[in-house]
Amino acid sequence: MAVEGPVSYWSISSHDFNGHFHNFHFVRPAAALPNEASSSPFPIGNGAPHSASFGFASLALTNVAIMKKAISIRFAEEADQKYLVEWLLQPGVLEWFPLADIREIEDAARIWLAYAKQDAVLTALWDGVPCGIANLYLQPYKKLAHQCLFAIVVDEKYRGKGVGTKLMGELMALAKDTFKIELLHLEVYEGNPAKNLYDRLGFEQYGIHRRFIKSDGKYQSKVLMQKKL
Ligand SMILES: CC(C)(COP(=O)(O)OP(=O)(O)OC[C@H]1O[C@@H](n2cnc3c(N)ncnc32)[C@H](O)[C@@H]1OP(=O)(O)O)[C@@H](O)C(=O)NCCC(=O)NCCS
Repeated sequence: MAVEGPVSYWSISSHDFNGHFHNFHFVRPAAALPNEASSSPFPIGNGAPHSASFGFASLALTNVAIMKKAISIRFAEEADQKYLVEWLLQPGVLEWFPLADIREIEDAARIWLAYAKQDAVLTALWDGVPCGIANLYLQPYKKLAHQCLFAIVVDEKYRGKGVGTKLMGELMALAKDTFKIELLHLEVYEGNPAKNLYDRLGFEQYGIHRRFIKSDGKYQSKVLMQKKL
């Protein structure tokens, strides 16, 4: 590929949060890099500053308490990587991922960064503080580019408050509108309550990979689900 002007070269080989191997080699004009070396939120889709934030007040007539929530979504930034590592280390989370320890988490976090640089990763903020991350594993091959896998994790302090639902809504819109993804799929281990969320969002089970995980001598199956966008 002929490239004019300043270019950025980078390559990376590693495993993602689902344990799949990725090997990237990028050569891109600097001007085409959308989300590098910046700490500012980037627009989603249309080039205008985007905020998916919403707020509501829940008022009980008999009581003066006002519950406010403000979830906003922006593209992930390199600095978000530390939150991702922190959340994966929270109690019980690794039960739902193939990763076993900090070395494997850091390996996967490198791949995560490669997708963040392609604006394929979204970060949710709760009152401005990062509280969840979801990413699309875009396919490098043309014949596979109409479909992709995703991964999601929400900080334990913010689970069950709609962050996952909001992130998934934005991720599906990003997948469909920007990356022209027609089929979004996921891998969830048997017993993970996250499946409730995927069922609610209209993902359908299309397969099961039995005995996919073996940890401390115990096997776990992986459920495969997909949704047409
Ligand atoms: C799965 C996860 C991303 C959902 O995010 P969330 O912000 O809690 O999601 P929401 O509040 O929008 O919706 C909650 C839904 O997720 C399910 N859920 C899964 N784990 C949950 C948890 N620990 N706390 C609350 N809800 C959870 C609930 O059953 C609920 O479904 P329902 O509303 O249909 O009953 C989040 O719980 C999480 O990060 N879990 C640990 C990591 C993980 O399992 N990731 C997915 C791997 S496939």
